[in-house]
This record gives sequence, structure tokens and C-alpha cells, in this order.
Amino acid sequence: MNKIGIVTSGGDAPGMNAAIRAITRVACSKGVMVLGFERGWDGVITNTFTELTPRNVGGILHLGGTILRTSRSPNFRKHEGVKKAAKVLEHNQVDGLITIGGDGSMRGALELCKVSGTKVVGIPATIDNDVYGTEESIGFDTAVNTAIGEIDKIRDTANALERIFVVEVMGRKRGFLALTIGLTVGAEVILVPEVPYTIEDVVQTLETNRNKGKRSGIIVAAEGIGDTYKILKQIEQAAGMETRMTIMGYSQRGGSPTARSRLLANLFAEKAVELLINNQGKCMVGLENGEVTCTDLKTVCNNEKMLNLDLLKLAKTLAT
Ligand code: F6P
Repeated sequence: MNKIGIVTSGGDAPGMNAAIRAITRVACSKGVMVLGFERGWDGVITNTFTELTPRNVGGILHLGGTILRTSRSPNFRKHEGVKKAAKVLEHNQVDGLITIGGDGSMRGALELCKVSGTKVVGIPATIDNDVYGTEESIGFDTAVNTAIGEIDKIRDTANALERIFVVEVMGRKRGFLALTIGLTVGAEVILVPEVPYTIEDVVQTLETNRNKGKRSGIIVAAEGIGDTYKILKQIEQAAGMETRMTIMGYSQRGGSPTARSRLLANLFAEKAVELLINNQGKCMVGLENGEVTCTDLKTVCNNEKMLNLDLLKLAKTLAT
């Protein structure tokens, strides 16, 4: 393994830069050259890269986003694009490629493996934490902490004016972010796409709370449950309580990575480089039972990560 490439693709996640820095420094310490492809898979297709060195990745550890930039490349969704990327990698004699991103990036990596001789290793990095094969992805912890900071503030005003707040958080079609955020802010209600609910159930919970003297509340809703504003209006009407809405939005994707996100980035990067040096590929590194593991990309792409429903039960118990 003489030369490896790095690509960050899909939605950015805090800690991607920490991973880029760690890959570069671990690889260079073993005499392996590192190329950073720009703007996700587009940079591979268009042969746009810069050489990364231990020095030029300095000062990025604490930065959100990705210095390589990223994209959701429509060209790479086409077979022609994947073949072009494989050719570019071959032309540049890139022996190994590390793909940092979410489930879409892992699917892209698997497609590339089908047509390319370059070994590919994935590193899960997405605030959604929805990638199979790892308990946690880079960026998730940062996004949770960003939301906690905001919702704690919302709680103050909710208490002061005795209002119900619906706070919509990201997560695409999955509820991992909403569940962890909801549990850790002590939300009265958590709505996730994986668990069916009715407006009546939500109103019942709020009314029970009101009868206990709890006149305000936080409902954390995953964006994947649908039109959260409509849901808020239905709740307001049925419960007869004053409600307000906050959409967390893209601030959850930015900011300086937490210690946890940086730690994962470092551990995943070290393992990914080690795998490539041992000539292994077509896999994704991950965290399982506290250990850094490696799972076949096919398994990653063909399985759905399950939401821990025990946590939802616990959240309900604690929100009484
Ligand atoms: O996958 C990360 C994520 O932030 C999701 O939580 C969100 O639904 C999506 O990306 C937004 O995508 P885009 O950046 O393309 O608007």
C-alpha cells in the first residue's frame, strides 16, 4: 500500500476533519502517501485532489464541516460515474480509498468495489447515526450536544410561559437523533418514525402532566415523522394548550466536534489505515461493544440498524 485517497461524501458531520487529520498522520507515519479528493465523489470522477501531509492537516481537528468539502454527487449514482471514478483511481495509482460518510456513502463505496481494484474502507460519519455495523458514527454525539444546549434554553421559556414546545430535530427517516436528544433533555414526549403514535396519545400524556401540575412540556419530534407543524396544530387544538415550534435544522450539522466525536474519528481512522495496509477492503470500521470493528460493506448496506426501544421506554418513565 503506497498511496491512499480520502473522500468525504454526503452530509457533513462534525469530526470529519479530525478523521482526515488522523488518517493522514497515521498513513504518513507508515510511509503511505495520502491524496484528499475534493467535493465528495465528484472530486474522484473529475480527478480533483490535493496531497495531504501531516503539516497541511494541522489546525483542523477542532473544525466542523470538512476541509475536502463534500457533495451528494448525482453523477456517482450512475454506473458510468462509478466506472469513471475507478479509472481515475487506477490512473493515480491509488491502492486504497477511505470513504467518510453515511449510509449513502457506504452504498457508493460498495458500488465502487464492484468495478475497481482499489481497496475501499468506509468510516461512518453522520449525525443521523443510522448506519448498520456501528453503534455510533462520527458527529452524532456533537449533534446531540448541540441540540441539548438549545432545548435546555427552550425549556426556560416553556416553563416561564407554561407552553408546549414541539422541537423538530434532524435524522432523515430515522429516530436515533430524536431518541437520544429526547431522553437527555427529559422530553415529555418523543416522536420517532419507527414507533406509531396518535395525537390522542400525545394529548393524553400532556393532560396527565397538567393534572399533576406540569403545565409546560417539550415534545422532541424526528423530522422523519412528517409535517411537524401540522402535528403541533393538532395537539394545540386537541389539548387546548398554547404551543410553539422550533426547528433545529442545520445548526445540528455544524460546530466543533465534541471529545467523543474526535475520539471516534481518531480510532476509526487508525483502524481504516491499518486495514488498508494489511490489504483488506470492502468493509466499514465501526464501534461494537466498545471495540473498533470491521464489517463487510455488503452487510452494512443490506441491513437496517434497529432503534433501541428500551431507551424510549426509559425516557417515558423518566418524564413523569
Ligand atoms: O444525513 C444528514 C442530514 O443532515 C439529515 O439529518 C437531513 O435530513 C439531511 O442530511 C439534509 O440533507 P441536505 O443537506 O441535502 O439538505
